Amino acid sequence: MRKLDKIYEGKAKILYTTEDPDLLIQYFKDDATAFNAQKKGTILEKGVMNNQIATKIFENLTSVGVETHFVKHLNEREMLVKKVEIVPIEVIIRNRAAGSLCRVLGLTEGLQLACPTLEFCYKNDSLGDPLINEYHIRALGLATDEEMKTITKMAFAINEHLKKFFLDLKIELIDFKLEFGRYKGDIILADEISPDTCRLWEVGTGNKLDKDRFRRDLGNVEDAYKEVLRRVTK
Ligand code: TMP
Ligand code: ASP
Repeated sequence: MRKLDKIYEGKAKILYTTEDPDLLIQYFKDDATAFNAQKKGTILEKGVMNNQIATKIFENLTSVGVETHFVKHLNEREMLVKKVEIVPIEVIIRNRAAGSLCRVLGLTEGLQLACPTLEFCYKNDSLGDPLINEYHIRALGLATDEEMKTITKMAFAINEHLKKFFLDLKIELIDFKLEFGRYKGDIILADEISPDTCRLWEVGTGNKLDKDRFRRDLGNVEDAYKEVLRRVTK
């Protein structure tokens, strides 16, 4: 499939049109940002690693019946995806307290939550992706109630599948962010799932194998991504 025009460039990926109006090429960059792009950097070969990691995760989710935009892995940095209309909401699921939840609620990092939690953020860089609830979503017309019911159900189901997927690799899924899109009348999983969008802690040691190493200057950033890739492709 040939790349035609660049139609979108985000912080970590670029989307190109193809000869097929229903399909796009998703290109993974090495660029990394944090804190709404106030911190910028590069993680060497991140694009190559996240393309492979996201491929394995999408393949696994497809195998358990989750509809995703993934079509196929094309080459080192590119995958073919369905062209969706992105729902402008970031969906965050948490199993243990970390990151902004600790900051906002004064919790200790790693606190086991009694049940998984669900948060929505309005996908808007100039506002810094603020936290919103289902009333804001309805009031602003960001998604219909029916779409939100589907998104919520899918997000919790994806959490259950991914917790198992990672636990088999001796990795604990602490939290993650999902994006969904509209495709031919359906809601499907879009964007990527990778160490950029998940918190992944090694079972036993608690070592962080995700983008927190970059966000918090913990060092060995590339090694952490490499380790996730190694386990996912084992
Ligand atoms: P948070 O604790 O900073 O709110 O992040 C929760 C999860 O969402 C974490 O796994 C990182 C991921 N995330 C993104 O993928 N993109 C973002 O812009 C943010 C803020 C978080
Ligand atoms: N990707 C987000 C940004 O730059 C934040 C993050 O992942 O921490 O802003």
